[in-house]
Amino acid sequence: MSLKYPTELAQIMIVESQNFFGDNYQLHGSYLVPTALTADHPKTITSRIPLTMTNFEPLRNDLLLRAARGERVERPPIWVMRQAGRYLPEYHEAKGNNDFFACCRNPEIASTLTLQPIERYARLIDAAIIFSDILVIPQAMGMTVEMLDKKGPHFPNPLRSPSDGQYEELLRRDVDVQKELDYVYQAITLTRQKLKGRVPLFGFCGAPWTLFCYMVEGGGSKLFVQVKTWIYKYPSASKNLLQKIAELCVEYLALQVKAGAQIVQVFDSWAGELSPGSFREFSLPYLRHISRKLPDRLRELNLELVPMVVFAKGAWYALDDLCASGYQVVGLDWLHDPAEAVKTTDGRVVLQGNADPGLLYGSREAITTAVEKMITGFGGGKQRWIVNLGHGQFLRFYVKDSL
Ligand code: CP3
Repeated sequence: MSLKYPTELAQIMIVESQNFFGDNYQLHGSYLVPTALTADHPKTITSRIPLTMTNFEPLRNDLLLRAARGERVERPPIWVMRQAGRYLPEYHEAKGNNDFFACCRNPEIASTLTLQPIERYARLIDAAIIFSDILVIPQAMGMTVEMLDKKGPHFPNPLRSPSDGQYEELLRRDVDVQKELDYVYQAITLTRQKLKGRVPLFGFCGAPWTLFCYMVEGGGSKLFVQVKTWIYKYPSASKNLLQKIAELCVEYLALQVKAGAQIVQVFDSWAGELSPGSFREFSLPYLRHISRKLPDRLRELNLELVPMVVFAKGAWYALDDLCASGYQVVGLDWLHDPAEAVKTTDGRVVLQGNADPGLLYGSREAITTAVEKMITGFGGGKQRWIVNLGHGQFLRFYVKDSL
């Protein structure tokens, strides 16, 4: 029988990592701990980032934060993009008849949904990610976004052109990021309390380029006709809005950290729609703005810095640029060959990824083989690697009832 759920991947990862680590590590519960930590702790730029200390319970599993900072770890940490959501029966139960964005806006529901995979896969997943969506920023900017059943996000009134009235209004409006997205911060704080230090909590936002795509396409797209029209017909108007979104992202992430997020990820899910040249023009500068300004803003707010992860899906051509983009961790989709990526990276960043989510439809043997190859590709999987899928969980994964 073939089972398809992330635990299986996680369990295999752990068992496989054990094989690779050999006798120097012992299994305590489901954690691998070093029998004797003899090797030098590598000095990296990221190891200067201190742990965020707040009034929450102390973190009992800080593996992911240490890995993200480039520190030595006993085994590679694992989490799964879109680990909370529709593939879990308990998600549907907790969500009830509530609309998706109503769940995001309700801190009690959002925190419950965030914790579901942490509880179902207790001790197999090393981080939680706050249940929310990247499209809360366009909403905070004043746009209406609905989540249509089986169709995904929908903007009834997308941006049409720089002269459509809405564009000027969006540029002019002074968005109160504290007030508009207060429900996210509340959800984060409540989740940190409920986590009781089990694992660290990710905050996140959409990258300016990806948010801009949604705002002009009005939802998902195949050809990206509207957004290509914008960048190739109205490049400076596009850049003005991208800059505005980038500034909002900085404030939004800073306030998520203030509320309790211990690491943040920027999702550039549509990066692969750009050519290398247009990525450098319409995505990278705004990703860089975030990585440059967020630490400044955190210092201003008297908060400790947190590791930052960038995930630019489809932008395999930009890996070298992303290694120098100011993020400590670069997420890889499954189009990357791990060994090639490690070579390109050359120790500049920690890598995250990158199993094909479709692999989880396969047999145990196929999953095991692919995971083994992935571990070998990431240099034995010992250091500077956060295990993840190359993109989010698909909808129709079978979840084993007995788990
Ligand atoms: O566990 C988690 O990862 C936490 C929550 C999370 C969601 N969305 C919940 C969600 C995160 C991190 C996101 C980010 C997000 N949202 C991204 C970036 C990651 C990626 O997938 O590239 C993007 C592009 C979105 C926009 C979005 N939200 C889309 C395209 C969809 C439809 C997806 C689909 O499969 O049809 C959503 C909806 C969404 N976001 C759901 C969930 C659980 C499903 C909503 C439902 O219950 O119907």
